[in-house]
Amino acid sequence: METVVSGIRSTGKLHLGNYYGAIQNFVKMQNEFNCYFFIADLHSLTTHPTPADLHGNVKQVLVEYLATGIDPEKATIYVQSDVPEIAELYLYMNMNAYMGELERSTSFKDKVRANPDNVNAGLLTYPVLMAADILIHKATKVPVGKDQEQHLEMARTFGNRFNRLYDNEYFPEPYAFNYSHNLVKIPGLDGKGKMGKSEGEANAVYLSDSPEVIRKKVMRAVTDAGPMVENQEKPSEIQNLFDLMKVVSSADVIAHFEDTYNKMQIRYGDLKKQLAEDMIIATAPMREKIDAIAADSDYLRKVAKMGEEKARESAQKTIREVREIIGFKRF
Ligand code: TRP
Repeated sequence: METVVSGIRSTGKLHLGNYYGAIQNFVKMQNEFNCYFFIADLHSLTTHPTPADLHGNVKQVLVEYLATGIDPEKATIYVQSDVPEIAELYLYMNMNAYMGELERSTSFKDKVRANPDNVNAGLLTYPVLMAADILIHKATKVPVGKDQEQHLEMARTFGNRFNRLYDNEYFPEPYAFNYSHNLVKIPGLDGKGKMGKSEGEANAVYLSDSPEVIRKKVMRAVTDAGPMVENQEKPSEIQNLFDLMKVVSSADVIAHFEDTYNKMQIRYGDLKKQLAEDMIIATAPMREKIDAIAADSDYLRKVAKMGEEKARESAQKTIREVREIIGFKRF
């Protein structure tokens, strides 16, 4: 059975972009593959969270993984920092990663531009840690969004370099995976790019948002003055609202608003009301579980411990073999 690895950085609440872009695939894949889904708390250290925030953020992702239907009996769910073998493999992989290629990574360049006063080495070697996350279980399938493709290419490069250096075929090549052919695009509500928390609280709809909060955020989404001619191409802020409808609304609802838009009869207020209600319905089953799971410390402890044990078993095997390949020997 093929092995799957994916993770989400623990930087706060999960939003619809995380759900439709990644987690929905996790929930399907757990029935078909040997899956490892983790909480990337080591990656979150690049932005220096306080100890209290760090733990709260890890808990939030763990709770929301469980609320969305990732099943600890089917998939291995673990906290990255509970598996120190990942940090060890990261050290070895750093020897196969060149400064030039790390500096050319688009996500690195974006982060340098966004935070010029916090260009730490952890940020530069972020793709090496991500490669270690994947290679530690010798995974071949990685369910992630389109923005992670360059990171996966780097993971293949580092694994292949290790293989070549030691003249073996130890690490298989990992590839991005998605059930649908065109990767789903989940735009934010600000009329610009993708949904994300760095774009501000109002741009993203969180799985834990109450119906009132969802209504408020959607009603404030950016729109224009309305179509000027029939069958007009939609400007990006309007297309974004239709793209969001595609993931939460029924086909007739979408057809209705497409039609009124094309006939220049659309009322954006009606579209937003409908979109908000459909988002509320789509997130209800998850929202309803979040509080109960968060309150159940015994269950969370049990899940994290079980995941840690299963993940470490696989990771320890890899580290044992990697150390032998590299040539470490006991006296
Ligand atoms: N870089 C990923 C993101 O920002 C998170 C991540 C870290 C990851 N390690 C991973 C995803 C390993 C898949 C596999 O979304």
